[in-house]
Amino acid sequence: MDRREFLKLSGLSASLILTDNLLAMEILEKEEKREIKSKSGGKKMKVVKLQPKDHLKPKGLVGISDEQIEVHFEAHYKGYVAKYNEIQEKLASDFADRSKANQNYSEYRALKVEESFNYMGVVLHELYFENLVAGGKGEPSPELKKMIEEYFGSVNNCINEIKATGIACRGWATLSYDLYNKILVVNGFDAHNQYGFVYSVPLIVLDVYEHAYYVDQKNKRPPYIDAFFKNLNWEVVNERFNKAVKF
Ligand SMILES: [Fe+2]
Repeated sequence: MDRREFLKLSGLSASLILTDNLLAMEILEKEEKREIKSKSGGKKMKVVKLQPKDHLKPKGLVGISDEQIEVHFEAHYKGYVAKYNEIQEKLASDFADRSKANQNYSEYRALKVEESFNYMGVVLHELYFENLVAGGKGEPSPELKKMIEEYFGSVNNCINEIKATGIACRGWATLSYDLYNKILVVNGFDAHNQYGFVYSVPLIVLDVYEHAYYVDQKNKRPPYIDAFFKNLNWEVVNERFNKAVKF
C-alpha cells in the first residue's frame, strides 16, 4: 500500500491504520465488490462487503475461556461486520437523501456516524483477536523494547500504563505507534471510533468492553486485563511495529 492509498484509507476509517496482516487493502481486495449506481448523486459508488475472519478466533487462552471468546467473536465481532455491510448497502442506495444531510439529525448523518463505529468495531476486534494466543508468545523485539523503554522507562511500566488506560476507558486501550510524530502512545477509547489518535498504528489492542469478560469475570475487569497480558502474542506486536516504522 502506498502513501496515497493509505491516506485514502485513513480518511475512510477515520481513526486507525491497519497493519499488513489485517490491512484494509487486504480486506478491500478479498471482499465482495460491486458497483451500484446512486440515483441521488448520479455517480457509481463501490460497495465494500467485509467477511468475518474466522481464522483469527483464539482458543485455549489462559484465564479467558473459549465460551467467553465464542460469544465475543460470534455475536459481537460478527455483529459489527454485518452492520457495516448493511450500512454500505444503504449508502450506495437512495436510502439517505444527501440533499437532506443535517448535523442535528439526518439519515445520512446517522449512516456516516455508524459506518465509522461499525468499521472500527471490525478492525479493532480483528487486531484484538489476532494479538492473542494461548499462554502468550515471544517478547518485545530489541527495537520495540528500546523504544518502549525510551517512552515508558520499562516494558512493565508500559504494560501498567495500558492497564490503567483499560480501567479508565470504556472500550479499548492500545499501545500505538503514531506516524505523524513517530512516537509511541497509549490510547484509550470510549467507543470504537472515539478518542483514538487518527494517524497511529495500533500495536497492542486490548478490548475492555464488558462483553469481553462478563462470561468469565462478571463485572471484574482487572483480572481479565491481567489474563489478556498472559496471552499476548508479542510476535504479532513486533510485526506490526516493524511495518509501522517503515511507513
Ligand atoms: Fe469486543
